[in-house]
Amino acid sequence: MLKIAVLVSGGGTNLQAIIDSIADGRITDTKIEAVISNNPKAYALERAKKAGIEALCISPKSFESRADFNAALLDAVNERQVDLIVLAGFMVVVPEAMIRAYRNRIINIHPSLIPSFCGTGYYGLHVHEAALKRGVKISGATVHFVDEGTDTGPIIMQKAVEVHSDDTPEVLQRRIMEQAEWQIMPQVINLIAHDRVHVVDGKVMIGEK
Ligand code: GRF
Repeated sequence: MLKIAVLVSGGGTNLQAIIDSIADGRITDTKIEAVISNNPKAYALERAKKAGIEALCISPKSFESRADFNAALLDAVNERQVDLIVLAGFMVVVPEAMIRAYRNRIINIHPSLIPSFCGTGYYGLHVHEAALKRGVKISGATVHFVDEGTDTGPIIMQKAVEVHSDDTPEVLQRRIMEQAEWQIMPQVINLIAHDRVHVVDGKVMIGEK
C-alpha cells in the first residue's frame, strides 16, 4: 500500500482528481494519509475533510522563522510515515531537508511541457500568459520528481494540449487541467504504487511490474 501526503495551497482540483481516482479504481493500492496546506483558506482542505482524509494547515505565519516552518512541515510528513509526497498546487518552496530525505519520492505537477515555461516566476496563470505571448500551438502538463532546482527534476509523464487562437490564460489553464493535469497525476501515482517508476542516470524509466 502506497501511503501518500498531498501538499496543497489552493482550490485542490488535482487533489480531487486523486481522491476520485482512488474511489473509482484508476489508482489502486494507495492511501492518502494526509492533506497539508500552507494556506488555512485553501478549499483543498474542505475537499480532504469531505473525503474523510486528515486535513491540516501548517502556515509559515504561525512560526517565528522559515526554518521553524520547514522543520514543522518535515515533521508532519515524517510522523505520517508516507512513501510519497505529492505537490498538487503547493505554492511553497520545498525545504531542502525534505528534498534530501525524500529523494525521488516527491512529485510535482507543472502546467506546461517542461522545459518550456518553467522555472522561477512560472507559476499559476503566469505560465499560460507566457505560452500565449510566445504563440505556441501546443502546451500541456508535466509530472516530475522534485530536486533542488525549480522544475528541474526527472520528468515522469507529460501530456500535450492544443492551444487555441482565441484562448485567454484562464481558458488555457482550464483546458490543460481537464485534458492533462487531472489525468496524468493519477496515472503517475498509480504507476508509482505498482513500482513501475525508476530513475536511472537522472532519467525516468517506466518499467514492467
Ligand atoms: C495547477 O495548475 C497546477 O499545475 C499548479 O497549480 C494549480 C493547482 O490547482 N501547480 P489545484 O489547486 O489543483 O486546483
